[in-house]
Amino acid sequence: MSAPDKLNLQDLRVSYDLDMLLESNTPADPVALFKLWFNDAMSHNLPEPNAMQLATATPDGAPNVRTVLLKGIDERGFQFFTNYESAKGRELAANPRASACFLWNERHRQAIVRGTVSKLPHEEAQAYFATRPHGHQIGAWASAQSQIIPDRAWLEGRAAEIEAKYGEEVPCPPFWGGYTLLPTEIEFWQGRTSRLHDRLLYVRENGMWVKKRVSP
Ligand SMILES: Cc1cc2nc3c(=O)[nH]c(=O)nc-3n(C[C@H](O)[C@H](O)[C@H](O)COP(=O)(O)O)c2cc1C
Repeated sequence: MSAPDKLNLQDLRVSYDLDMLLESNTPADPVALFKLWFNDAMSHNLPEPNAMQLATATPDGAPNVRTVLLKGIDERGFQFFTNYESAKGRELAANPRASACFLWNERHRQAIVRGTVSKLPHEEAQAYFATRPHGHQIGAWASAQSQIIPDRAWLEGRAAEIEAKYGEEVPCPPFWGGYTLLPTEIEFWQGRTSRLHDRLLYVRENGMWVKKRVSP
Protein backbone atom coordinates (compact mmCIF):
# COMPACT_ATOMS: atom_id res chain seq x y z
CA MET A 1 0.00 0.00 0.00
CA SER A 2 1.61 3.30 -1.04
CA ALA A 3 0.45 6.57 0.48
CA PRO A 4 -0.11 9.60 -1.78
CA ASP A 5 2.55 12.33 -1.49
CA LYS A 6 0.14 15.22 -1.27
CA LEU A 7 -3.45 15.65 -0.17
CA ASN A 8 -5.60 18.19 -1.93
CA LEU A 9 -7.19 19.80 1.12
CA GLN A 10 -7.33 23.46 0.25
CA ASP A 11 -10.16 23.14 -2.26
CA LEU A 12 -12.37 20.99 -0.03
CA ARG A 13 -15.22 23.32 0.80
CA VAL A 14 -18.96 22.83 1.33
CA SER A 15 -21.58 25.54 1.26
CA TYR A 16 -24.01 25.13 4.15
CA ASP A 17 -27.58 26.16 3.42
CA LEU A 18 -30.04 23.49 4.55
CA ASP A 19 -31.72 25.15 7.50
CA MET A 20 -31.53 27.91 10.11
CA LEU A 21 -31.53 28.00 13.88
CA LEU A 22 -33.48 30.83 15.44
CA GLU A 23 -34.19 31.72 19.07
CA SER A 24 -37.87 31.95 18.12
CA ASN A 25 -38.24 28.48 16.60
CA THR A 26 -36.26 26.41 19.10
CA PRO A 27 -37.63 24.77 22.26
CA ALA A 28 -36.76 26.13 25.71
CA ASP A 29 -35.24 22.76 26.64
CA PRO A 30 -32.06 21.84 24.73
CA VAL A 31 -32.65 18.13 25.25
CA ALA A 32 -35.92 18.52 23.33
CA LEU A 33 -34.00 20.18 20.50
CA PHE A 34 -31.35 17.45 20.64
CA LYS A 35 -34.07 14.82 20.25
CA LEU A 36 -35.59 16.70 17.31
CA TRP A 37 -32.21 16.84 15.57
CA PHE A 38 -31.48 13.22 16.40
CA ASN A 39 -34.79 12.09 14.90
CA ASP A 40 -34.10 14.26 11.87
CA ALA A 41 -30.72 12.49 11.45
CA MET A 42 -32.47 9.13 11.80
CA SER A 43 -35.12 10.03 9.24
CA HIS A 44 -32.37 10.96 6.77
CA ASN A 45 -30.76 7.55 7.33
CA LEU A 46 -27.45 9.01 8.48
CA PRO A 47 -24.99 6.26 9.43
CA GLU A 48 -24.65 5.86 13.20
CA PRO A 49 -26.31 9.15 14.17
CA ASN A 50 -25.65 8.21 17.82
CA ALA A 51 -21.86 8.29 17.35
CA MET A 52 -20.29 11.03 19.43
CA GLN A 53 -16.76 12.25 19.91
CA LEU A 54 -16.17 12.06 23.65
CA ALA A 55 -13.49 14.36 25.03
CA THR A 56 -11.87 13.84 28.41
CA ALA A 57 -8.68 15.16 29.94
CA THR A 58 -5.78 13.63 31.82
CA PRO A 59 -5.13 14.93 35.34
CA ASP A 60 -2.39 17.20 33.95
CA GLY A 61 -4.79 18.66 31.38
CA ALA A 62 -3.89 16.80 28.18
CA PRO A 63 -7.08 16.37 26.11
CA ASN A 64 -8.10 13.02 24.71
CA VAL A 65 -10.91 12.27 22.28
CA ARG A 66 -12.52 9.14 20.86
CA THR A 67 -15.83 7.97 19.43
CA VAL A 68 -18.44 6.22 21.57
CA LEU A 69 -22.10 5.44 20.96
CA LEU A 70 -24.92 7.23 22.75
CA LYS A 71 -27.18 4.54 24.24
CA GLY A 72 -29.77 6.55 26.14
CA ILE A 73 -30.95 9.97 27.27
CA ASP A 74 -32.91 10.65 30.42
CA GLU A 75 -33.08 13.19 33.26
CA ARG A 76 -29.61 12.02 34.37
CA GLY A 77 -28.06 12.94 31.05
CA PHE A 78 -26.54 11.29 27.98
CA GLN A 79 -25.48 7.68 28.43
CA PHE A 80 -22.72 5.53 26.96
CA PHE A 81 -21.06 2.24 27.87
CA THR A 82 -17.41 1.35 28.05
CA ASN A 83 -14.61 -0.29 30.01
CA TYR A 84 -14.11 1.52 33.34
CA GLU A 85 -10.38 0.62 33.25
CA SER A 86 -9.83 2.09 29.79
CA ALA A 87 -7.93 5.35 29.26
CA LYS A 88 -11.21 7.27 29.25
CA GLY A 89 -12.36 5.43 32.38
CA ARG A 90 -9.18 6.36 34.23
CA GLU A 91 -9.39 9.94 33.03
CA LEU A 92 -13.02 10.27 34.08
CA ALA A 93 -12.22 8.82 37.52
CA ALA A 94 -9.68 11.61 38.03
CA ASN A 95 -11.66 14.36 36.30
CA PRO A 96 -15.36 13.72 35.61
CA ARG A 97 -15.76 16.72 33.31
CA ALA A 98 -16.35 15.73 29.69
CA SER A 99 -17.67 16.94 26.39
CA ALA A 100 -19.42 15.03 23.61
CA CYS A 101 -19.68 16.24 20.03
CA PHE A 102 -22.22 14.89 17.51
CA LEU A 103 -21.64 15.63 13.84
CA TRP A 104 -24.59 15.20 11.48
CA ASN A 105 -22.62 16.33 8.49
CA GLU A 106 -25.20 15.66 5.79
CA ARG A 107 -27.60 17.94 7.71
CA HIS A 108 -24.90 20.61 8.23
CA ARG A 109 -25.35 20.23 11.97
CA GLN A 110 -23.28 19.73 15.08
CA ALA A 111 -24.37 19.45 18.73
CA ILE A 112 -21.96 19.61 21.67
CA VAL A 113 -22.86 18.48 25.17
CA ARG A 114 -20.64 19.66 28.04
CA GLY A 115 -20.95 18.56 31.64
CA THR A 116 -19.96 16.07 34.28
CA VAL A 117 -20.18 12.29 34.12
CA SER A 118 -21.14 9.81 36.78
CA LYS A 119 -21.33 6.02 36.63
CA LEU A 120 -24.65 4.31 36.02
CA PRO A 121 -25.73 1.65 38.55
CA HIS A 122 -24.19 -1.75 37.72
CA GLU A 123 -27.68 -3.29 37.35
CA GLU A 124 -28.27 -0.99 34.37
CA ALA A 125 -25.01 -2.11 32.79
CA GLN A 126 -26.03 -5.72 33.37
CA ALA A 127 -29.44 -5.15 31.80
CA TYR A 128 -27.93 -3.48 28.73
CA PHE A 129 -25.08 -6.00 28.49
CA ALA A 130 -27.63 -8.82 28.36
CA THR A 131 -29.13 -7.27 25.18
CA ARG A 132 -25.78 -7.12 23.35
CA PRO A 133 -24.87 -9.69 20.69
CA HIS A 134 -22.94 -12.68 22.05
CA GLY A 135 -19.73 -11.74 20.21
CA HIS A 136 -19.81 -8.24 21.70
CA GLN A 137 -20.20 -9.73 25.17
CA ILE A 138 -17.15 -11.93 24.63
CA GLY A 139 -15.25 -8.96 23.24
CA ALA A 140 -15.95 -6.88 26.35
CA TRP A 141 -14.33 -9.56 28.54
CA ALA A 142 -11.45 -10.25 26.13
CA SER A 143 -10.39 -6.65 25.68
CA ALA A 144 -8.27 -5.04 28.37
CA GLN A 145 -9.26 -1.81 26.67
CA SER A 146 -6.48 0.72 26.04
CA GLN A 147 -3.69 -1.67 27.18
CA ILE A 148 -0.80 -2.49 24.84
CA ILE A 149 -1.07 -6.15 23.77
CA PRO A 150 1.43 -8.42 21.96
CA ASP A 151 -0.58 -8.99 18.77
CA ARG A 152 -4.00 -9.87 17.32
CA ALA A 153 -3.51 -13.58 17.94
CA TRP A 154 -3.23 -12.81 21.67
CA LEU A 155 -6.61 -11.05 21.58
CA GLU A 156 -8.28 -13.83 19.64
CA GLY A 157 -6.79 -16.36 22.07
CA ARG A 158 -8.31 -14.44 24.99
CA ALA A 159 -11.69 -14.38 23.23
CA ALA A 160 -11.54 -18.16 22.71
CA GLU A 161 -10.72 -18.68 26.41
CA ILE A 162 -13.67 -16.52 27.48
CA GLU A 163 -15.95 -18.35 25.07
CA ALA A 164 -14.84 -21.71 26.49
CA LYS A 165 -15.33 -20.46 30.05
CA TYR A 166 -18.81 -18.97 29.75
CA GLY A 167 -20.45 -20.55 26.70
CA GLU A 168 -23.80 -18.93 25.90
CA GLU A 169 -24.42 -17.18 29.25
CA VAL A 170 -21.87 -14.38 29.41
CA PRO A 171 -22.16 -12.23 32.55
CA CYS A 172 -21.47 -8.49 32.51
CA PRO A 173 -17.82 -7.89 33.49
CA PRO A 174 -17.38 -5.95 36.74
CA PHE A 175 -15.05 -3.53 34.93
CA TRP A 176 -17.58 -2.71 32.20
CA GLY A 177 -20.46 -0.29 32.58
CA GLY A 178 -22.19 2.94 31.76
CA TYR A 179 -21.66 6.61 32.33
CA THR A 180 -24.15 9.41 32.13
CA LEU A 181 -23.09 12.89 31.06
CA LEU A 182 -25.23 15.46 32.86
CA PRO A 183 -25.15 18.59 30.70
CA THR A 184 -24.41 22.05 32.01
CA GLU A 185 -24.25 23.38 28.44
CA ILE A 186 -25.52 22.18 25.07
CA GLU A 187 -24.51 24.00 21.92
CA PHE A 188 -26.19 23.62 18.53
CA TRP A 189 -24.52 24.61 15.27
CA GLN A 190 -26.39 24.95 12.02
CA GLY A 191 -24.31 25.73 8.94
CA ARG A 192 -25.41 28.84 7.02
CA THR A 193 -24.19 30.53 3.87
CA SER A 194 -21.03 32.69 3.76
CA ARG A 195 -19.86 31.09 7.00
CA LEU A 196 -22.44 33.13 8.97
CA HIS A 197 -23.50 30.01 10.80
CA ASP A 198 -26.07 29.83 13.60
CA ARG A 199 -24.80 28.82 17.02
CA LEU A 200 -27.25 28.57 19.90
CA LEU A 201 -25.77 27.84 23.29
CA TYR A 202 -28.02 26.66 26.13
CA VAL A 203 -26.48 27.24 29.56
CA ARG A 204 -27.87 25.90 32.82
CA GLU A 205 -28.15 28.89 35.17
CA ASN A 206 -29.86 28.67 38.59
CA GLY A 207 -31.68 25.51 37.54
CA MET A 208 -33.01 27.06 34.30
CA TRP A 209 -31.85 26.74 30.70
CA VAL A 210 -30.83 30.10 29.22
CA LYS A 211 -30.41 30.46 25.45
CA LYS A 212 -27.53 32.54 24.08
CA ARG A 213 -26.38 33.24 20.55
CA VAL A 214 -22.69 32.69 19.88
CA SER A 215 -20.75 34.24 17.03
CA PRO A 216 -19.81 31.68 14.40
C1 LIG B 1 -18.26 4.32 15.55
C2 LIG B 1 -17.53 3.93 16.81
C3 LIG B 1 -18.25 3.62 17.95
C4 LIG B 1 -17.60 3.27 19.13
N1 LIG B 1 -18.35 3.03 20.24
C5 LIG B 1 -17.72 2.76 21.41
C6 LIG B 1 -18.48 2.63 22.61
O1 LIG B 1 -19.72 2.81 22.65
N2 LIG B 1 -17.80 2.34 23.75
C7 LIG B 1 -16.44 2.18 23.78
O2 LIG B 1 -15.89 1.91 24.83
N3 LIG B 1 -15.70 2.32 22.66
C8 LIG B 1 -16.30 2.61 21.48
N4 LIG B 1 -15.57 2.79 20.34
C9 LIG B 1 -14.08 2.66 20.43
C10 LIG B 1 -13.51 3.97 21.00
O3 LIG B 1 -13.48 4.97 19.99
C11 LIG B 1 -12.10 3.80 21.61
O4 LIG B 1 -11.21 3.23 20.67
C12 LIG B 1 -12.11 2.92 22.86
O5 LIG B 1 -13.25 3.17 23.68
C13 LIG B 1 -10.86 3.14 23.69
O6 LIG B 1 -10.76 4.50 24.02
P1 LIG B 1 -9.78 5.03 25.18
O7 LIG B 1 -8.48 4.25 25.04
O8 LIG B 1 -9.62 6.48 24.92
O9 LIG B 1 -10.46 4.75 26.51
C14 LIG B 1 -16.18 3.18 19.15
C15 LIG B 1 -15.45 3.49 18.01
C16 LIG B 1 -16.12 3.88 16.86
C17 LIG B 1 -15.30 4.26 15.65
